[in-house]
Amino acid sequence: MPKIFIVGSGVVGTATGKGLLRADHDVTFIDVSAHRLDHLRSQGLDAHDSLDLKGAPDAFIFLTLPTPSTGHGYDLTAFQDGSAAVGRALADATNPHVVVVRSTVPPGTAEGLVKPLLEKYSGRTSGEDFTLASNPEFLRAASAVEDFRHPWMTVIASRSTRTRERLAALLAPFGGEIRFFTDPAEAEFVKCAHNIYNATKISFWNEMWLVSRTLGLDLDPIAQTVARSAEASYNPYYGIRGGSPYGGVCLPKDTRGFLALADGLGVDMPLLTAVVRVNEVLSASRLGRP
Ligand SMILES: NC(=O)c1ccc[n+]([C@@H]2O[C@H](COP(=O)([O-])OP(=O)(O)OC[C@H]3O[C@@H](n4cnc5c(N)ncnc54)[C@H](O)[C@@H]3O)[C@@H](O)[C@H]2O)c1
Repeated sequence: MPKIFIVGSGVVGTATGKGLLRADHDVTFIDVSAHRLDHLRSQGLDAHDSLDLKGAPDAFIFLTLPTPSTGHGYDLTAFQDGSAAVGRALADATNPHVVVVRSTVPPGTAEGLVKPLLEKYSGRTSGEDFTLASNPEFLRAASAVEDFRHPWMTVIASRSTRTRERLAALLAPFGGEIRFFTDPAEAEFVKCAHNIYNATKISFWNEMWLVSRTLGLDLDPIAQTVARSAEASYNPYYGIRGGSPYGGVCLPKDTRGFLALADGLGVDMPLLTAVVRVNEVLSASRLGRP
C-alpha cells in the first residue's frame, strides 16, 4: 500500500485523505493552519504542519491547496508556497514519489508552475527523481466525502505511463469511469471546462427565466420539457466538436428572433447575444475547422 500525504487539508484534502484512509491507506495530512490541524487531530487523524519525506516509502503527495479568485484570475500564492515546501521535502527523499495536483488550477499550472518549483527547491529532476501527475477533483462541497468514495469520473494525466498506471491502481477501487491524458494541462482544462459548462447552463436557464417571467410564463415545466427535447440536453456528444459553428435555417433564425423578442420586452440577454456573436466569429473567419 503506497503512503499518502495530503498537502492542504481543507474540504478536498480531507475528503481525499479520509476516502483513502477508509481504503486502508496510511494517510498523513499537512496544513499551515493551526486551527485546521487541531480539528484534524481531534478526529484522531495524523496531521502535521510540514511535510517530512526523510525515509518515507514510495508515496503519493496530493496537492489540494486553495486556488481562490483574485476577482479577476486565480490566486496561486498558496500553490507557490506549497509547491516550494514540497520541493524542499523532496530534497530529502530517498524514493521516487508522485506529486499529484488535485486542486482546480489554470491549464499549464502543473508543468509551468509546480514542476519548476519542485525542481528548484529539491535540486531533483521531474521524470527521474519524482514524477508529476494531474488528477482534478470533481466532488461537490456538500457531499465531499461521499463523492470521493463514489466518483462518476476520474481523470488522470501524467507524462509517465508508470505514474498513470499507479494512480489508476490507487483510485480504480473507488469505481467510476477513468480517463487518461498524457499532458497534465489537458486534465486541468477538463476541470475548468467542467465548471464553466455547469455555470453556463445555469446562466442560460436564468436568462430564459428573466424572459419567461416577463411574459408571465412558468419556466419550470418549460425547462423540464426542453431538458428532454433538446438534443444538446440529452445527448452528451451533441455540439461538443469545437471549431464547428451551427448553420442551417433554424438555429440562426431562432436565436436572432428570440433576441429581438427579448429586446421588445426590454429584457437584456447577454448570454444569447454572445452565443450569436461566437457563431458569427467562427462562421465568418477561418478560425473554424476546415
Ligand atoms: N470545495 C469544493 O467543493 C471543491 C471541489 C472540487 C475542487 N475544488 C478545488 O480544490 C482546491 C482546494 O479547495 P478546498 O475547498 O479544499 O480549499 P480549502 O480552503 O477548504 O482548503 C485548503 C487548505 O489548504 C491549507 N493551506 C493553504 N496554504 C497552504 C500551504 N502552503 N501548505 C499547506 N496547506 C495550506 C489551508 O489552511 C486549508 O486548510 C481548490 O483548487 C478548489 O477550487 C474544491
